[in-house]
Amino acid sequence: MSSILSQKVLLWSLILLVYQFSISCKANQQSKYLYKFIQSKRFQQKPSSHEEAFYLSAFVDEHVPNKVHVEEQLRLMKADKVKALPGQPKGVNFDQYAGYVTVDAKAGRELFYYFVESPLNSSTKPLVLWLNGGPGCSSFGYGAMQELGPFRVNSDGRTLSLNKDAWSNVANVIFLESPAGVGFSYSNKTLDYSNIGDNSTARDSYIFLLNWLERFPQYKTRDFFIAGESYAGHYVPQLAHLILSNNKKMKHHRVINLKGIAVGNGWIDDNYCTKGMYDYFWMQSLNSDETHRGIEKLCDFRNFNLTNECVGYQNKAADELGNIDVYNIYAPLCNSSATKTSYSGSDFDPCSEAYTVAYLNLPKVQKALHAKARKWSSCSDLSWTDSPASILPTINRLISSGISIWIYSGDIDGRVPITSTKYSINSLKLPVNTAWRPWYTGKEVGGYVIGYKGLTLVTVRGAGHMVPSYQPHRALSMIASFLHGKLPPESNS
Ligand SMILES: *[C@@H]1O[C@H](CO)[C@@H](O)[C@H](O)[C@H]1NC(C)=O
Ligand SMILES: *[C@@H]1O[C@H](CO)[C@@H](O)[C@H](O)[C@H]1NC(C)=O
Ligand SMILES: *[C@@H]1O[C@H](CO)[C@@H](O)[C@H](O)[C@H]1NC(C)=O
Ligand SMILES: *[C@@H]1O[C@H](CO)[C@@H](O)[C@H](O)[C@H]1NC(C)=O
Ligand SMILES: *[C@@H]1O[C@H](CO)[C@@H](O)[C@H](O)[C@H]1NC(C)=O
Repeated sequence: MSSILSQKVLLWSLILLVYQFSISCKANQQSKYLYKFIQSKRFQQKPSSHEEAFYLSAFVDEHVPNKVHVEEQLRLMKADKVKALPGQPKGVNFDQYAGYVTVDAKAGRELFYYFVESPLNSSTKPLVLWLNGGPGCSSFGYGAMQELGPFRVNSDGRTLSLNKDAWSNVANVIFLESPAGVGFSYSNKTLDYSNIGDNSTARDSYIFLLNWLERFPQYKTRDFFIAGESYAGHYVPQLAHLILSNNKKMKHHRVINLKGIAVGNGWIDDNYCTKGMYDYFWMQSLNSDETHRGIEKLCDFRNFNLTNECVGYQNKAADELGNIDVYNIYAPLCNSSATKTSYSGSDFDPCSEAYTVAYLNLPKVQKALHAKARKWSSCSDLSWTDSPASILPTINRLISSGISIWIYSGDIDGRVPITSTKYSINSLKLPVNTAWRPWYTGKEVGGYVIGYKGLTLVTVRGAGHMVPSYQPHRALSMIASFLHGKLPPESNS
């Protein structure tokens, strides 16, 4: 990159940061990071068609088996048991674990995880790995504490309540802070932080899993699923592909029993997702016809060659949105100066992120989690080295592998909206097995489902980007169906 170009990128990032900050200083960081990241791609060259093939072949790594330390891991399971989290409510009837797994001993690189077992029949329930996106955002701070985990942080920032729709009702769930540099995960080799991308993230997550399964050997042969949202639209398919490629060469006891993946509001293709976002702004009456026409006419998302005129219209599109929460266009905003929030138990409190940051920075909480004392934040700025423009070729390979693939979408997210997901899936031209139909939770339509050959698309009605936060009950019903290998309920009885 020439220096003029890098100055431009820097300037652009700064403008974007200031702009984003001014419209939503309390906004969800995960969505902010994704937007910032995608915009920063605009000066990159069009990816070559060889990129993807190279990418995937580089994933199969000869040295991985040597990174597993069996004896050490078994000892650590007991040490990782969390007795109780400070401020947790009465009636906790499940086991929790938290700690680090070393993924590179030489560099001193470790990933932090939080693991929750199902209160009921955990020994027969599947194992799910949950990943948040960013890139650079924490699966623990979002996934576990604000979305599908067993607890939510109360507005005091010190106590917890139970989430009755936790996904641990139907599975044993690992929340992994990935890559190193995010949340409590770290590396002692600072150079690692400037050399992070999709490739190293998948590789470290895979080494994490191999070691984690030695620490919790009772899960080695368990049905295993990976789920995630947002930029995890990259992480989830890439990790699944890496597991399947390496399974072929692994000795039997190290094969990971991967059964399926679920991706929510996932960033899976730069072109279709960006186009889908602006089309959604227009269809939802958040943007004017004029601005939308300008974007359609002047922005070349396919080559990601965005001229200044195009960027002018993109800025207009952002201005026209006004001060709304883009990742849930109908949600209230957080008002941090309001003394008490007026949200009932079932509504997602838009200030949850602030409560979570406060809670996870309490020294006694970090201690209870076996985390190294540090300033914890929801997202970190990482300079990202590699990110293919499209994950669709990887998804195509996963379809041929026969694992179960669900793509779900909260239908009031404006950042990675349903239009983005539909354009991406439609481009695969898969035959339809089950026609579009509503699905139900109780008497209410939970969303819509369409079954393609090898892939299922499910919408969750009234959910934003963080689907389990905004529609916890529907999200649980959806993921339960996914784990059972059935389409979501057809009848309203
Ligand atoms: C991916 O990582 C491997 C191992 O660290 C490396 O050899 C390879 O060049 C990387 N590939 C890309 C596309 O960065
Ligand atoms: C990183 O460095 C700290 C301080 O020297 C040390 O306590 C820790 O064990 C190191 N981490 C790893 C994974 O080696
Ligand atoms: C737990 O397992 C037992 C024995 O298989 C079964 O009878 C029971 O219904 C299960 N309970 C739940 C909540 O899955
Ligand atoms: C980007 O688009 C502009 C205007 O259409 C064109 O002049 C330029 O050559 C394009 N750049 C690349 C790298 O394709
Ligand atoms: C935030 O809450 C305070 C205190 O209740 C109130 O005075 C203020 O108007 C609110 N601000 C917004 C933007 O709603």
